[in-house]
Amino acid sequence: MNLKDKINRIEELKKEKNAVIMAHYYVDGEVQGVADYLGDSYYLSHAATTIDKNIIVLCGVKFMGESAKALNPEKKILLPASEAECPMAHMATVESIREVREKYEDVAVVCYVNSTAELKAESDVCVTSANALNIVSKLPNKNIFFIPDKNLATYISKKLPDKNFIFNKGCCYIHDRITKEQVALAKELHPDAKLLVHPECKSDIADIADYVGSTSEIIRYVKESSDNEFIIATEEGVLFELNNVAPEKQFYTVTKEQICPGMKMVSLDNIIEVLENESSQIEMDRELIDKAKIPMEKMLELAKK
Ligand code: 13P
Ligand code: SF4
Repeated sequence: MNLKDKINRIEELKKEKNAVIMAHYYVDGEVQGVADYLGDSYYLSHAATTIDKNIIVLCGVKFMGESAKALNPEKKILLPASEAECPMAHMATVESIREVREKYEDVAVVCYVNSTAELKAESDVCVTSANALNIVSKLPNKNIFFIPDKNLATYISKKLPDKNFIFNKGCCYIHDRITKEQVALAKELHPDAKLLVHPECKSDIADIADYVGSTSEIIRYVKESSDNEFIIATEEGVLFELNNVAPEKQFYTVTKEQICPGMKMVSLDNIIEVLENESSQIEMDRELIDKAKIPMEKMLELAKK
């Protein structure tokens, strides 16, 4: 099948199966192109609660499918790339959460949504990069155990000096491996470009950024900016939407390695396959759904205020 046939087939299947397609900004451009809902992790979590179709095809990594399932237990959530994992989602442990709870009386366990359902189930509230600062600032607790991402935790902790952050060692290696030296080189090559950084990057990069934000916040910043050139320190998939919203502007990545292998496993072919067969469904037992749902719903509630 050529590209046009694949797109037509997906449209046909969506109608036949009463399905919608949701995609994160990090998947391939042609997958973003067929999405009914395209956005960052927060947008996708929120949008999943508003959909009245039977089937959600989640073009992203597994934790995103699990989040959608926890919020919509009665729906079929299909993950086109069944093996698509986010390594960071596994970089904290239930044991460490329980230890911290034993040690501190007044602690909130804040779970970045990039985590397994088992970790969410042990946490008090979920956050995404778009709402972490807002939500943590509203928590009454002095002590914040932030899992799994040490870089996002560091970024938020600097903005909330009255809180006592307990850090976890996880990180996203795609963002974490971008170095200050590489950023300096990119700035030398593009001296007029503004540096836009995702908070999953190391803090020495966030510290020198012109703007730090989630993928959707970076896109909004570019749309509203009067500048014309931007160095983007996040996964390169976001450039697809940046070029859509601001085709006259120039975008550069810091390195050629800003590619998330899990996100890039999603393709038009595996979307067609899962829709045809209703395969690769997210399966979670009811107890896990009920527990993981609580911090997810708390996030949605606190993010609104
Ligand atoms: P946002 O979608 O919150 O920008 O986070 C990026 C990410 O790593 C998703 O996996
Ligand atoms: Fe996980 Fe990083 Fe990929 Fe996001 S970009 S899904 S945090 S590995």
